[in-house]
Amino acid sequence: MIEDLFNNKIKVTAEYQALIAKINLCDKKYYQEDDSIISDAEYDELRIRLNEIEQQYPELISKDSPSQKVGYVVQKDFNKVSHSTAMLSLANAFSGKDVDDFIVKIQNFLNLSYFPEICVEPKIDGISFAARFENGKFVLGITRGDGVVGEDITENIKVIKSFPLELQGEVPNRLEVRGEMYMTKNNFKILNQQQEENSGKIFANPRNAASGSLRQLNTQITAKRNLDYFIYTVLTDDSFADNQYDALQKISKLGFSINPYIKIFKSLDDIIAFYQNINETRYSLVYDIDGMVYKVNNFALQERLGHVARSPRWAIAHKFPAETVTTKLEDIVIQVGRTGVLTPVACLAAVNVGGVMVTKATLHNEDEIKRKDIQIGDIVTIQRAGDVIPQILKVNFDKRSNSKQFIFPKKCPVCGAAVERIADEAMTRCVGGMKCEAQILGSLKHFVSKEAFNIDGLGEKQIEFLYRKNLIKNFTDIFYLEKKQQDSAIKLENFSGWGKKSVENLFAAIKLQKNISLDKFIYGFGIRYVGQNNAKLLAKNYLSIKILLEEISNSLCIENDKIVINYDSVSYKNFINIDGLGDKVVNKLLEYFTDQDNFDMVNELITILHIKNFELVQQNSKIANKIIVFTGSLEIMSRFEAKNMAEKLGAKVQGSVSKKTDYVVAGEGSGSKLKKATELGITILDEKEWQDLISTQN
Ligand code: IVH
Repeated sequence: MIEDLFNNKIKVTAEYQALIAKINLCDKKYYQEDDSIISDAEYDELRIRLNEIEQQYPELISKDSPSQKVGYVVQKDFNKVSHSTAMLSLANAFSGKDVDDFIVKIQNFLNLSYFPEICVEPKIDGISFAARFENGKFVLGITRGDGVVGEDITENIKVIKSFPLELQGEVPNRLEVRGEMYMTKNNFKILNQQQEENSGKIFANPRNAASGSLRQLNTQITAKRNLDYFIYTVLTDDSFADNQYDALQKISKLGFSINPYIKIFKSLDDIIAFYQNINETRYSLVYDIDGMVYKVNNFALQERLGHVARSPRWAIAHKFPAETVTTKLEDIVIQVGRTGVLTPVACLAAVNVGGVMVTKATLHNEDEIKRKDIQIGDIVTIQRAGDVIPQILKVNFDKRSNSKQFIFPKKCPVCGAAVERIADEAMTRCVGGMKCEAQILGSLKHFVSKEAFNIDGLGEKQIEFLYRKNLIKNFTDIFYLEKKQQDSAIKLENFSGWGKKSVENLFAAIKLQKNISLDKFIYGFGIRYVGQNNAKLLAKNYLSIKILLEEISNSLCIENDKIVINYDSVSYKNFINIDGLGDKVVNKLLEYFTDQDNFDMVNELITILHIKNFELVQQNSKIANKIIVFTGSLEIMSRFEAKNMAEKLGAKVQGSVSKKTDYVVAGEGSGSKLKKATELGITILDEKEWQDLISTQN
């Protein structure tokens, strides 16, 4: 026994030394030569194993260990943390008139006869975060998340060079700052060049790059990406400052970065002039901004104004108009999506729109091409707003010469099957179904996506690769992959970018996801109209895959040797009667199962997987089986979230008040429903009482 332990320790010591050597070599290559000799995931694995050994055998820790040198860590996951107060978002203004309305509303709300001081700040196009300090020491960093709960990114913030971890001078005991993390346009360009060389992920814009860089389990990567930040919110004792402008100046003196273009104005004309000035010069800034934020400067007035839904009444974002440029449309190609929709895409002569190179624009559908009279060879004006796919605004007809009309294909360009246009729909679809490669690939990608089976290490790129190598052709192949690999001559680990460890990890991730909830299983098929919500509705109503499949079978019959929907069956009617589902969804669901191949595949999957029954309502929930109606706007939770929460706790949420209603949760601006509830003597809860009710569930 003791001998075993001894032998094991010798083995671990050798492994530990090897790990140190390998990580140090990777670090040297990465930091001094800008070269990655292994993938990020493989590097993370090494660091995790190193941490494990050091935790289990602290006596082994060597001064050469990378853990002893720099303050970088590799985490296994991000913990979820609640925000001290909700991180709200901003309502948008798109014109001077919208801004005027915003000011008038404030004046009316506060009964002001004067123009309130407005603090004007650039709206940084990055990713927001919150950072807490206790007695001047940085203790916690959180992403925005859903505004109520975010992810713990303390270790990542620690490696942001310009971020102060210890504050000097007169510092409040408790302080929280919120701001925007961003990547400069230049750093973004360099990063994408490096990513291209290392076959890494190419980021669409600096904001995505900032977000991807901040949320890294390996903080060494965050450190290398050179992020910057600006603080725009200070939460602390009332005595710190009585207005936004002063709070920011004070925080800047404590060592935080604030944006240099922050000013106070007292008239609409001055605000708009400043906005226009910044809009015209914004391309010369080293970071992206997508508008200006106007905030009532005085904190006491902010407090009185409060917020509505998820945005404060005291602030608004005045967005800059979308960026437009002209370029040549060189070609039109057709992409076929998961459900067979043919989408025309414009191939453009590469053009820089506000710092981002654009080569493609969506054309939506055949009608859009006709409506805008777009032809191949045209000079077009394109628009890019935020990170949405650029759109073609118009054709510059005066520059048209030798343009060629685009003929929309009559056959699917991928599989050659016929295409059809459904009446009332602008979309053209390939009828090839699961015989069309584009649809198979799209379905496979959907099946493994985050919201469905969420298989770690099996993204779009890997699916495409495995498909081309004939290793995964349908859903079931995913779960046979490991077994088939054992007897196969084509070994995944021999392909570049895979490696032994990542293949092992992939098999482990696939195994893990064999345990799947019923709703995710249903959603995974990617049946048209059966999105996450409808999949949940089906799961909730049928509870187990066995019952659901029985009911599907009972809704089908054979007619002229073909499986068809039996519209007269009781089971079909039961489907239709599910509140919120509707015949369009039910018909698509059943149509999917009229294809024998699909039916067989689902039946095979249920023998491979463990499909968890839908979780029944918490037995001791106080609102189980109660009928609840939400009205007006809620501030802490969105109505959607509140509804979800109520349903999770077993309540039935209805749209209108009746005698049967148990509770009416009335937010701000409740009207006729509240009145009716009062008349019927129904229990009315305000948002606070509603929160109390659900938070006391056990
Ligand atoms: S104030 C309650 N100020 O814009 C007010 N936000 O759509 C909270 N942003 O989520 C935001 N620059 O990520 C504020 N100077 C600025 C900002 C700013 C960028 C972002 C922030 C927020 C989003 C609002």
